[in-house]
Amino acid sequence: MTGRMAEKVSIITGGASGIGRACCLRFAEEGAKIVVADLNLERATAVSDEVASMGGEAIALAVDTSIPEEVEGMANSAVETFGKIDACVAAAGISHAGYVSREAEEQAGADRHDRQDMMLIDKSLSSWQRVLDVNLTGVMLTNQLVAKQMAESDGGAIVNIASVAGKTALMGASDYCVSKAGVWMLTKCGAIELARYGIRVNAVGPGYIRTSMSGAATSNDAWVEDRIKETPLRRLGEPSDIANACLYLCSDEASFVTGEIIFPDGGLIADSRS
Ligand SMILES: NC(=O)c1ccc[n+]([C@@H]2O[C@H](COP(=O)([O-])OP(=O)(O)OC[C@H]3O[C@@H](n4cnc5c(N)ncnc54)[C@H](O)[C@@H]3O)[C@@H](O)[C@H]2O)c1
Repeated sequence: MTGRMAEKVSIITGGASGIGRACCLRFAEEGAKIVVADLNLERATAVSDEVASMGGEAIALAVDTSIPEEVEGMANSAVETFGKIDACVAAAGISHAGYVSREAEEQAGADRHDRQDMMLIDKSLSSWQRVLDVNLTGVMLTNQLVAKQMAESDGGAIVNIASVAGKTALMGASDYCVSKAGVWMLTKCGAIELARYGIRVNAVGPGYIRTSMSGAATSNDAWVEDRIKETPLRRLGEPSDIANACLYLCSDEASFVTGEIIFPDGGLIADSRS
């Protein structure tokens, strides 16, 4: 295969849906060999089949990224199958403790405002802990266990999916915002510690993107209108907008870029009114 990721073995966590799926397809278009790692094996397999139908190579793995043994198994399986790991996008994430990623239309039916524990004053420790376990500890474990394999070969590139919510507080989402702010700092710590192994670590902080995760909100026309009004480029983002940023950071074009965060957010946080 030729392309900007030719022959680069790439693990994408959360690869079964939304931003992760878009990364799998975009990286495969550029010649990468893909490991689709997700909690949902059925949907991960569907994505690896999509890659195969494009003429690419992919495997699907069932992984809960908050469980160390499963993440270690993921990294080992990637090396057993493809010989090494060159790139990793840590996209597995949840918006709140009870979130289950589904088709966006089905997700749209799940009204997040039914939840009783959104505000900090009502937040249960178990809800808080689950979001931190998946969104922060899961990303840390992914970075650590993938980096161990990369360090034994030629190094590599890791991209962590953060969010504009790691920079701007969102009402009713303290656990999510704190987890994403943590991902940003983890990225900077990883960059300075892993540089000696030839490993670059960067983050991407999406704005409002149309996926299953935003499905409950994007089915609300008034909500969408308000978000478009506050986004200078006057649209919501698509998963491919984020995949293209991840592709750049994982490719050799970014060989001198580490410890950075890119916000593909249509100008949202650059606008002082937001
Ligand atoms: N959609 C947005 O507007 C938006 C904005 C900013 C950041 N993000 C971040 O982008 C990332 C991807 O989200 P998305 O919008 O594509 O959502 P999504 O629900 O479409 O995809 C998330 C995927 O992660 C998987 N997953 C969840 N928990 C997991 C776990 N413990 N182990 C392994 N896989 C797990 C899900 O099964 C799903 O396939 C998340 O980290 C999210 O926080 C999304």
